[in-house]
Amino acid sequence: MCGIIGYIGYRKASEVLYSGLRTLEYRGYDSAGIATLDGGKISLIKDEGRIEQIHSKHNFFRLAGKIGIGHTRWATHGGVSQKNAHPHTDCKGRFCVVHNGVIENFDELRMSLIAQGHKLSSETDTEVVAHLFEEEAKKTKDASEAFSKAVSKLSGSWSLVAMREGEQAIYVSRNGSPLVLGIGSGEMFCASDIPALLPYTKEVVFLEDGDRAILTKNGYLIVGKDGKRQNRKVHTISWTANMAEKGGYPHFMLKEIAEQEEKMREALACDVSGAIRLLRNRKQLTVVACGTSYYAGLVLKTAMQCWLGLCVDVILGSEFAYMRTGKEKVVLAISQSGETADTLSAVRLAKKSGAKVIAVTNVAGSSLYREADANVMIGAGPEIAVVATKSFTCQVAALLKIALLLSGRKAELARLHALPELIGGVIRRSAEIQKIAKKLSGRRDFFFIGRSFAFPAALEGALKLKEITYLHAEAYAAGELKHGPLSLLEKDVVVLALAPSDGTLPKTISNIEECKARNATLMVLSDSKDALSKSELHFRMPSCDPFAVPILYAIPLQLLSYYMAVGLGRDPDKPRNLAKSVTVE
Ligand code: G6P
Repeated sequence: MCGIIGYIGYRKASEVLYSGLRTLEYRGYDSAGIATLDGGKISLIKDEGRIEQIHSKHNFFRLAGKIGIGHTRWATHGGVSQKNAHPHTDCKGRFCVVHNGVIENFDELRMSLIAQGHKLSSETDTEVVAHLFEEEAKKTKDASEAFSKAVSKLSGSWSLVAMREGEQAIYVSRNGSPLVLGIGSGEMFCASDIPALLPYTKEVVFLEDGDRAILTKNGYLIVGKDGKRQNRKVHTISWTANMAEKGGYPHFMLKEIAEQEEKMREALACDVSGAIRLLRNRKQLTVVACGTSYYAGLVLKTAMQCWLGLCVDVILGSEFAYMRTGKEKVVLAISQSGETADTLSAVRLAKKSGAKVIAVTNVAGSSLYREADANVMIGAGPEIAVVATKSFTCQVAALLKIALLLSGRKAELARLHALPELIGGVIRRSAEIQKIAKKLSGRRDFFFIGRSFAFPAALEGALKLKEITYLHAEAYAAGELKHGPLSLLEKDVVVLALAPSDGTLPKTISNIEECKARNATLMVLSDSKDALSKSELHFRMPSCDPFAVPILYAIPLQLLSYYMAVGLGRDPDKPRNLAKSVTVE
């Protein structure tokens, strides 16, 4: 959701910005633009559409200069159009700014700027910042001070990156939206996310809320919300640039699915000691998360409630404010990016009433990571496709490790280590899934069903399918079919039944029969001959412990969604209207 990149140094800025924006594409966007400063003057290219299209239409590289800022926009205020795309400038094009977040008081600021004679040309909340910068610069020669004064008038959330004509500097500010500085030698960078920086540097500084910074080619200076200079920690990133490349795969999603054998080993080796310390002897746990991470939370709930008798509430980040008791002692937040606004705001609310926070995340240094009292790093490596694949299976592995350790299930924990090989085995049978995807092409309605641990796997399978194929897909606990969805079943409707041979199997088989009796098309995933024999369309799964089902069954469902999306001519890496990192509430 909105990507930002800024550069100052010795390279051609437009090239750095272009490649940075390409890397940030996964965040989701509908328009893009860059501005560079050359010979003291700002030049700008922006338009709606994909970066590649904009580049072939306008040629970003015709912009000279060694300072610049770039942006991918995911529309919030104002439709998708060239004039609403960032960067935005003041009345005379001397100040320019890019923004991620929402300026909540923009209406009021806009009115007052118009009353002062400013001409605003877009419908965005962001443009007011450029005009405020212009206004404040009338009162002081110091551009950094003018920028700070402009920012002090804002309320809402932002990461802002700005330039001013004639100044060899970039001005940045962060409040509630991610921004990371990249430290080079004779050059500085800033970006919404680490992958954009990986080709240039591994030394990064995460800004805190309320921070402002000035970047020059020789370094940076950060001032905190107290107005004092701050020395924020420099982190060295272990990710490499090629981790964020396709590496010969046609799509990131397929690469990330294929990586799961290896990434599962890393996830299982994760350090959960901090989480265990906070969870030991608890009677209640609250989990907050969104999207796929929420489904990982449901797996934890099933495990903890069954094995420990612990009461686990799994609450969507966006619902936490309405559901919380205010007495939560420990909140476990699950977020791949560590930047999801709804999850973060839930965590902040819980902290205010004294809760301790455990973060289960993939990004060291992310906002969630820094808010937490204990961190569990899932070790999935950069995930670029908008939809979660390897991060889900790695989250579930880390969460199961916590639950297995807390409940003293050593033998089961040891058996989890067989998973990478089983995952690899399923991935090597991708061609079988591809055939099934072909057979299901043309179908428009899909129901995913499962019981117990297979239920969150069904939910995740349906989410994947709808996200990237735009087909109707929903999931039900298999026993719920008779309470409503059965009325929708008819010949062309597909039911994907997850039927592992555990204690749930006989009942799931009955549910499969119910669907057959209504002429639905069945596709069965199972390790049981009985279940597989119920449908011509099936995929034989390896046998595994019930708790490993959400991990293992996720793989063929991810592949199925992928092949169906490709068959429909969709781009599985960049589904319409969706963003990877959802940084607004
Ligand atoms: C977006 C992504 C999903 C993700 C969700 C939560 O909707 O498209 O793939 O599951 O955000 O993201 P998080 O980073 O908090 O896990």
